[in-house]
Amino acid sequence: MSRFTPDTIERVREAADIVEIVSAYTDLRRQGERFVGLCPFHEERTPSFSVKPRDGFYYCFGCEAGGDTIRFVQEKEGLGFADAVEALADRYGVEVERESEDPKAEEARRRRGRLGEVLERVAAFYESYLWESPKAAKARAYLIEERGLGEEILRGFGVGFAPSAWDSILTRGQRAGFSVDELLAAGLIQRSQKTPGSHYDRFRGRITFPVRDHRGRVVGFGARGMGPDAKPKYLNSPESEVYRKSRTLYGIDRARGPIARGGRAVVVEGYTDVIALHGAGVEETVAVMGTAITPDQLKLLGGYAEEVVLALDADRAGREAMLRAQRVAGSGRLRLLVAAMPEGEDPADMMRTEGGSNRLRGLLADAVDLAVFHVRAILDDADLTTPPGRDRALDEVVPVLVGMGETITRQEMVREVADRLDAAPELVASRMKSGRSRPEPRPEPMTAPRPAGAGEQKQPRPRRREPTQEERREAMMLALCMDAPETAAPYLDRLGPDHFTSPILRSVFERIRERPDDPLEGLGESESALINAITRLRALDHEPATKDDLEFRWMLLERDRLDRALRHPEGLEPADLVAMQKQRGRLADAISSVEARGIGGAVPGPAAR
Ligand code: UTP
Ligand code: MN
Repeated sequence: MSRFTPDTIERVREAADIVEIVSAYTDLRRQGERFVGLCPFHEERTPSFSVKPRDGFYYCFGCEAGGDTIRFVQEKEGLGFADAVEALADRYGVEVERESEDPKAEEARRRRGRLGEVLERVAAFYESYLWESPKAAKARAYLIEERGLGEEILRGFGVGFAPSAWDSILTRGQRAGFSVDELLAAGLIQRSQKTPGSHYDRFRGRITFPVRDHRGRVVGFGARGMGPDAKPKYLNSPESEVYRKSRTLYGIDRARGPIARGGRAVVVEGYTDVIALHGAGVEETVAVMGTAITPDQLKLLGGYAEEVVLALDADRAGREAMLRAQRVAGSGRLRLLVAAMPEGEDPADMMRTEGGSNRLRGLLADAVDLAVFHVRAILDDADLTTPPGRDRALDEVVPVLVGMGETITRQEMVREVADRLDAAPELVASRMKSGRSRPEPRPEPMTAPRPAGAGEQKQPRPRRREPTQEERREAMMLALCMDAPETAAPYLDRLGPDHFTSPILRSVFERIRERPDDPLEGLGESESALINAITRLRALDHEPATKDDLEFRWMLLERDRLDRALRHPEGLEPADLVAMQKQRGRLADAISSVEARGIGGAVPGPAAR
């Protein structure tokens, strides 16, 4: 996809109301120029989170999360940069412009837009049909009474009902200006075999579940027949220009926020499982729609989650699907866990039973590492009654254990395996050593032991090391430069890269020199470290920058630079050395006299890092 014009990003930044956006996640109180509240990125009791509406930034002094509106939406809603820009543009009515793209790509995008539009309209039609048509009374009763799904959650997922006529969509779609070709491409109608050249609706007399992409755009449908004998039970949209099944997870549009906040995703089998779990408050749930999880689906989840709990059927097929997941997990940093579902009961069914919701939460909380699950599955399937049977089981288990890496979990599994095989733990261990020489494809170590007590809550970010005194002074100088770019101009000229010991502050300095008025302008996703640093600096507490402050701050940095140079006098000409020492002395005097007069009151307090 082509890039946004820089102007688009600017207009989005300007239009988006950061206080409004942040307020959806934490209560903010006005405090002078800024708003403060409890940080939505880490647990805290006293507010260290602050938002500056004038600049459009947020920053937390506790966990150092910071950025602009776009970044906030990225982090909180688990979106990529481009998606966050589009979501905000949508919300604040900003017209998105892109750098010109090649005509073919532009045409394809326009076409996808058309298909998306018709899918969206059809979803709305099916939905209103479910709730309004007398002909859908049975479907409503089935969903609500028989399946125990609440109206609110059904509406939330846009569940609908397709009329049983052959041409509801064919006729309505064309009347609304969509061509037969577009309806076909969207998977809404199909060609008649009997009467060549004619078409009919794909979904008829079925309950419809719109499948949406992560941004909430309808890409297809799953449609459940009524009654136990419906064949097939579900009819699904075909793959299309907008629907790629291997990249789609049912429910991701609603689950991505909760997944990003909790760091955990729950993967179930089907449409009704997702709806039932969301209805019960497990909102980080998505479905693979009956197939094995794909690398693309894991990648999608990897954008939001650290941990993926597979809550799939315990039957043979489900088990194989889970083990395939281990293979496709590849080099991702995702940790895969398995919650073993009881035989013959899926999550949606469980929600209907007494205490089912708690039972399910328990199963999710007790989820084990995929490798642990794998080892146990092998042992469960093996014939452990004879020594040769146990040997075969050992053969199978060893590569899995080796793949677990050197973890406590593995050590415990070795004991468990030895126990169940009635073998000495040393035997298992020595087989693992020799097993190493056999080149087995090793799954990534997804098995780092979970820190005790780390439940749903995301771990707080690791604190960075304390900044040095020099870095504090560099940071304050840059903050003042950004605050008063015009006054700072002569100082920006005098400063050079060697006034900065911190590489990131040096980059910020260079950036400010390029774009003194708006250092963030045009920075993209790949420069997030720079964006963060700039935001952090903007959030520093200081008096409005005056010429005197800047002069004082400049002297401090110049003195620091001389000190560093003088610490290594080896390569210096004697004359230069003397000049530098003199200059160092003059600066020190000037600095102390300013300090004595009490100017330069912008000495950073504890908040300045
Ligand atoms: P299930 O047979 O477990 O259905 O298939 P389900 O989701 O529990 O549906 P209910 O609860 O009986 O209404 C799991 C998933 O596999 C896909 C669907 O995505 C379904 O949700 N599937 C199943 C199909 O695509 N086609 C089928 O015929 C059956
Ligand atoms: Mn079911």
